Amino acid sequence: MLRTNTCGQLRLEHDKQEVTLSGWVHRRRDHGGLIFIDLRDRWGLTQVVFDPTINARVHELAGSLRSEFVIQVTGRVRCRPLEQDNPNLPTGQVEVEAHSLKILNAAKTPPFDINKETVVDEALRLRYRYLDLRRERMQRNMMLRYKVVRYIRNFLNEKDFIEIETPILFKTTPEGARDYLVPSRVHAGKFYALPQSPQQLKQLLMVAGYDRYFQIARCFRDEDQRGDRQPEFTQLDMEMSFIDREDIMALVERLIIGLAETVAPDRQILQKPFLRLTYQEAMARFGRDNPDIRFGLELSDISPLVAQCGFKVFNDVITAGGLVKGFNATGLGNYSRKQIDELTDFIKDFGAKGLAWLKVEADNTVPTGVKVGGSSFAKFLSAEEVAVIISQLNGQAGDLLLFVADQPSITNESLGRLRLEIGQRLGLRNDELLAFCWVIDFPFVLWNEDEKRWDPSHHLFTSPMDEDIALLDSNPAQARGKQYDLVLNGYENGGGSIRIHQRELQEKVFGLIGLDVEEAKHRFGHMLEAFEYGTPPHGGIALGIDRLVMLLAREPNIREVIAFPKSQSATDLMAGAPTDVSETQLKELHIRLR
Ligand code: AMO
Ligand code: AMP
Repeated sequence: MLRTNTCGQLRLEHDKQEVTLSGWVHRRRDHGGLIFIDLRDRWGLTQVVFDPTINARVHELAGSLRSEFVIQVTGRVRCRPLEQDNPNLPTGQVEVEAHSLKILNAAKTPPFDINKETVVDEALRLRYRYLDLRRERMQRNMMLRYKVVRYIRNFLNEKDFIEIETPILFKTTPEGARDYLVPSRVHAGKFYALPQSPQQLKQLLMVAGYDRYFQIARCFRDEDQRGDRQPEFTQLDMEMSFIDREDIMALVERLIIGLAETVAPDRQILQKPFLRLTYQEAMARFGRDNPDIRFGLELSDISPLVAQCGFKVFNDVITAGGLVKGFNATGLGNYSRKQIDELTDFIKDFGAKGLAWLKVEADNTVPTGVKVGGSSFAKFLSAEEVAVIISQLNGQAGDLLLFVADQPSITNESLGRLRLEIGQRLGLRNDELLAFCWVIDFPFVLWNEDEKRWDPSHHLFTSPMDEDIALLDSNPAQARGKQYDLVLNGYENGGGSIRIHQRELQEKVFGLIGLDVEEAKHRFGHMLEAFEYGTPPHGGIALGIDRLVMLLAREPNIREVIAFPKSQSATDLMAGAPTDVSETQLKELHIRLR
């Protein structure tokens, strides 16, 4: 037996017991003859004392211990002397007086501190991930992640869901990203695709009658990496039969509230039941379909006010079918020209051509009590027009009003981003809050200007609203889908839909997005065929586990909550993947490199 107790276990009640502990040397302190070791394992830290008067040989050996050595210690538990207890440590009232010590393994000096929360270059952390994972922050995150998944499993088991695994080697399952392909050795020139999600398989499980399926599913998407994206990530994937949108949203909402209240009891859920926004509302008020609703600074459409005004930039944009919107950066009227120029540069990254601004100042000589205290465009407008704009944005003395005029997508995207940036600067993105909301009534398809075709706004298998099916022929842009997204603190945390369950409608949708009959058959023939064998109405959702845990852990990116993540450039810095393979392997796979 290598231990009798863990390093997190001993309390006053163990006083005078003989114990054996094993673990890592977390910290070593030499104090006038006595050597103190904080011994660490997954469960905690225990102080071990080596006293030369108790055993000189063991004390001498303890002198050779270094950080991260793995040791086994046997000794007697004793109360710490008065005033030497450590209230920050669950084991802080006791210590182990060692009378034997065995070094199970020495350790090289780690490339960074394990026992301190120091800032370490991320590449170094990822290169030595097994050491990084020893650190308290990562231990906390991994535990939280485990608790989240455990809660989900328990909740869904109780609700009569069954967990079913689906293949990783499969056929393309598009969710809008590029596929990862795996060449077949047995079938020369043919490839498996790793699933971007289990979407088709879970629908086929509904055809097969396995109502109420879930899976903690790994998904693979070859897309540009960001803080909230990894090439492989984990979803809670669910599908149910004979349900409607309300059924799924209600179930997921109960799951999420219970989960958050259990694993993050110190956080406050902003609003229960969750706020619901239509896609149109979300875009109008926040410029994004994943709004951060923890704060105001909402966007306001001033197009009608400036359609006829004397400012050419605004007029031209509106004539061209664009949108002029703005918001009130409350209290930032003291921003300098330089600071405003920085904001302008910021929005240009999102395609905007300029940022129009207006500072509001107090003026007690007029009924509104405010006047323009400097502006990039007010001189082109009448005093009445300016007053109406200030009033619409509720401009008070000391405020800075910011406007973008452009095509709707650019106006919304750039201002939506700027709103988040200003919210951040004003400290309004309160970490204590968990602000969930649903976004519903998405457009069914979005126009892809590059490829000149309609793209599904969710995925190929989402059903259009019944009352909008006719629009698929006459005016696809106006058709809405039976899609719902769950948003948390400005991140898309989940998305799902009621699916198409009839072959004719599925074929029609394939046609609308430009898949010809042959191509559709080649890629999704199995789905179309399945629809002819008694497919129940069904729907589901997938929640991004990584993003959820990231936000619950207050971490800035999902790499912090994944045990072995890829770097920003999609490499594994520890093992060095992707990597070269041998000529023999390539040959077997029928691949010649260029
Ligand atoms: P969707 O594509 O919206 O839906 O994905 C669901 C959720 O998965 C998370 N997510 C990611 N997390 C980390 N890295 C990524 N690269 C990444 N991509 C997505 C997000 C997202 O909300 N099959 C459908 C679900 C359904 O219709 O039931 C699907 O995959 O949190
Ligand atoms: P100008 O007349 O070109 O000097 O522009 C006056 C102000 O309008 C400047 O502050 C510009 O940054 C701003 N501006 C220019 N184009 C846009 C636009 N598309 N949206 C909002 N403001 C703009």
